[in-house]
Amino acid sequence: MIELTTIIARNLTAPNPVLLASGCHGEMHGFLPMRGLGGIVTKTVTLFPRDGNPPPRITETPSGMLNSIGLQNVGVQAFCRDRLPVLTELGVPLLVSVMGYTVGELCAVVERVCEGSLGNRIGFELNLSCPNVDYADARMFAHDPKLISVAVEAVRKVTDRPVIAKLSPEVSDIAVYAEAAEQAGADAVTVMNTITGMVIDVRTRQPVLANGTGGLSGPAILPIAVRQVFQAAAAVSIPVIGVGGIRSADDALQMIIAGAAAVQVGTASFVDPGTAGAVRDGIIDYLRHTGENLSDLIGSIRWRGSGSAPPRRAETGAAAG
Ligand code: SIN
Repeated sequence: MIELTTIIARNLTAPNPVLLASGCHGEMHGFLPMRGLGGIVTKTVTLFPRDGNPPPRITETPSGMLNSIGLQNVGVQAFCRDRLPVLTELGVPLLVSVMGYTVGELCAVVERVCEGSLGNRIGFELNLSCPNVDYADARMFAHDPKLISVAVEAVRKVTDRPVIAKLSPEVSDIAVYAEAAEQAGADAVTVMNTITGMVIDVRTRQPVLANGTGGLSGPAILPIAVRQVFQAAAAVSIPVIGVGGIRSADDALQMIIAGAAAVQVGTASFVDPGTAGAVRDGIIDYLRHTGENLSDLIGSIRWRGSGSAPPRRAETGAAAG
């Protein structure tokens, strides 16, 4: 019997390591047997409803997708009234993705969600890293370790539930940012959000997306995500959840071997809503073949340079960020 359960955050265990990434559940509901999932991350919820950015806001790229949705959502009041009760009935761990322009907003969203009678398998994924909204004079939290600390510490004070910080790939050394989240009290980190990109229509000479830029996801970013998961996992002792470009069991296995305790499947679900389930089944086949449990696989990378142990940050030669 293979043991697939995994701790995805302090105090939150998932039945298997394959979660549906933020932004997919609404679209996939009705197509996908949610009960077979390791968990679901909701579309990001904000304090007030948001229409998101004007269209066009999605375009395909070679091996990827560029989106500039802009956090369209119904706002926390309607989310708690209409969606949360349905989501909590699904019987899988639920991570409510939350975003605020200020720490006060972020905490207000978390507090509002916590007012309801929630099951014990609900945590928060703090979206500190959306590349598609205008931060005006502020900075994206995930682009500054101090801001990550401030945000995580503040949320930590308003909830005992698992708090996971979703980090940005657009930093010089992800380890520094993961450490900041851990030291501020995060129960896990999600690595990584999309990478800002741009596509230009050469006939009109205008960006294809109305917003100009968007977040790149899909297979094109997988090697970057694997590298970032590896570096983050070598730096922190809280779980790392890997996301970015996974479409097969082998892709997920790379992340897990690099150190991820769990993975999230996003863009590939839009191509085939059954992807997350197929990824989970492929991981089970792999473990059957090797005779291991999931926990044996996590961080089992055989580092070519220095034997079997993943190098610590200093050994990777990464500069502090
Ligand atoms: C969006 O709604 O723009 C995507 C969410 C994100 O990238 O964080």
